[in-house]
Amino acid sequence: MTSTAKPLFVTCALPYANGSIHLGHILEHIQADIYVRFQRMLGRKVYFVCADDQHGSPIMLKAQKLGKTPEEMIAEVEKEHRADFAGFNITYDNYYRTNSPENQEICTCMFNKLKEKGYIKSRTISQLFDPEKNMFLPDRFVKGTCPKCGAADQYGDNCEVCGATYSPTELKDAYSAISGAKPVLKDSEHFFFDLPQFEEFLKSWTKSGALQAEMSNKLQEWFEQGLQQWDISRDAPYFGFKIPGTDDKYFYVWLDAPVGYLASLKNLLDRQGLDVYDVISKNNDTEIVHFIGKDILYFHSLFWPATLEGCGYKSPSKIFVHGYVTVNGAKMSKSKGTFIKASTYLKHFNAECLRYYYASKMNGKIDDLDFNLEDFVAKVNSDIVNKIVNLASRTAGFITKKFGGRLGDSIADSELLSKFTAVKETITNDYLNREYSHAIREIMSLADLANKYVDDKAPWVIAKDESRQQELQDVCTMSLNLYRILITYLSPILPELTAKSADFLATDLSWDSIDTPLTGSEIKPFKALFNRIDSKTVAQMIEDSKEDIKAEQAPAPKAEKKPAKKDVDEAPAEITIDEFAKVDMRAAKVLACEAVPESKKLLRFELDLGNGEKRQIFSGIKSAYQNPEELVGRFVIVVYNLAPRKMKFGVSEGMILSAGSGDSDIFLLSADSGVKPGDRVM
Ligand code: MSP
Ligand code: ZN
Repeated sequence: MTSTAKPLFVTCALPYANGSIHLGHILEHIQADIYVRFQRMLGRKVYFVCADDQHGSPIMLKAQKLGKTPEEMIAEVEKEHRADFAGFNITYDNYYRTNSPENQEICTCMFNKLKEKGYIKSRTISQLFDPEKNMFLPDRFVKGTCPKCGAADQYGDNCEVCGATYSPTELKDAYSAISGAKPVLKDSEHFFFDLPQFEEFLKSWTKSGALQAEMSNKLQEWFEQGLQQWDISRDAPYFGFKIPGTDDKYFYVWLDAPVGYLASLKNLLDRQGLDVYDVISKNNDTEIVHFIGKDILYFHSLFWPATLEGCGYKSPSKIFVHGYVTVNGAKMSKSKGTFIKASTYLKHFNAECLRYYYASKMNGKIDDLDFNLEDFVAKVNSDIVNKIVNLASRTAGFITKKFGGRLGDSIADSELLSKFTAVKETITNDYLNREYSHAIREIMSLADLANKYVDDKAPWVIAKDESRQQELQDVCTMSLNLYRILITYLSPILPELTAKSADFLATDLSWDSIDTPLTGSEIKPFKALFNRIDSKTVAQMIEDSKEDIKAEQAPAPKAEKKPAKKDVDEAPAEITIDEFAKVDMRAAKVLACEAVPESKKLLRFELDLGNGEKRQIFSGIKSAYQNPEELVGRFVIVVYNLAPRKMKFGVSEGMILSAGSGDSDIFLLSADSGVKPGDRVM
């Protein structure tokens, strides 16, 4: 495939704006990001977009509970969601919102088209109404006794005890979950999308190859049960877009949410001078690809393609459905601490660990994926650290020390090298088919061969023999070439490790470069590329997740108590001695220091942390050190176990401590007297 292949418009389901991103959501974004990164490596044009899903009753009610306006709450949540996805290195071309002018415009335009063509019907229906709250009750906000088995406190749409599904009017002793009031029946006019008119279209689309086989079978069941008209309107009060031509009717959130995919794309394309309506027109060759979880198939495989078709737009080319994340074999649980927020995970682990672990278990099917915490630690350490990174760490040092960083001119074992390049096509197909676990199995069996090569050659033995220096250079060059291929194969999964490796090998790790041996060129000194992880950190993450839930369940602060603006420094939150003990501070020697020209604040440090470990750290103290080169040779104190952060100018691998009131008044906390690099600070 080349850049002439059709462009892709790829989306993940839009997360609801009333809660945090958790490790269940993240599965989908990692799955899609790996797919997108790979397609881009093949040279394909991709528009990868997502957005927050910000409308609907649950969002309106949650904001009320927090004493905020919906607009305030969704703005805060959006900020948090964006940071979470950036933290996992999800490379969206645009992350937008459904509460946006673009979305309102496209929704209105599509609704008007559907209405003109006779696909919108209206009729009066009778629904449960909360007389205290003065609002119609969504099914989930009515509770009562199950009409089938008599279990108390069941939701309005289905019984969690016997599994029966019913309409909320069938519940016995119904009450409003919002006010507790007894609901009454009230009439209201609603708009319906006439789905049955699309039966023939949907029957042929579902067989077009857009769906996985299991999913298209599921759809046949739905066809057998008969398609129903879809209620797309809701009465005020509702947080959403008003339906044109009405005073108090709003689009149901599930109408404007998938349109949000197009709104996010529009927001991106407008900035590029392109037109979203061109992209979705039937004669445009862009392919629409949606990644979703199995719970929202109905919306994406019936309503969404039918509304697009009704407007004369193109249909999705692919709906890739995935299963659910379980933790240690069970549903994620708030009380067990296995309901892990993305941000909580990132406080403890690098994103790449989870990207790797999930990928090692992902395939193109709908099976659930178990996040087994013990297996997670074992797999990350044994695969990434022991098998992959170790390959470079065992051989790069010789190239640096003995050959001035220069690789040898030839490949010592071309037969072994061709074994590595020969699987390129298999791995390509694995990525295209989302069979990431298969790709990883292939890559790890190659890694075993590479390690066997190094073990057999034992460069550390050859190194002692002055007459065998050429052989030493060749063996190390060979193993670094095997490393180079392995990392390139893993690059859609492990982008940070790839970037660091490309830097250290001083080469470009593109898909095309796999077949070109790296010889005769200079590499940079090896520095730690990946940190081993441990089960103690897992335990801390679980404890933190329990704390997250407690914080969430604490009563919301009264709105009036909140200071209007943070214009005074608040006292920082207290931390416990145990929390403080987690901070690993070490002395480091400044090897190089330079100003980052594009930045007002930053200095870039290269530090020696002892035991041959070198790190790059960015520190915002430029204003205090006009001649950064003078810092070379000094000792500083570094927060050693701070998760690496990707900054605009490179990765910062820790933090340098300094103090002062700002501007030119900043002092490095030096540890100059009598310390060695790597010494612990106590
Ligand atoms: N807002 C809707 C989607 C609208 S798309 C036009 C929604 N939001 S959600 O936040 O509940 O879910 C977003 C995505 O995360 C869905 O694809 C859902 O299947 C997925 N997941 C939510 N929990 C999950 C797991 N525990 N495991 C895997 N995926 C999960 O639905
Ligand atoms: Zn029941």
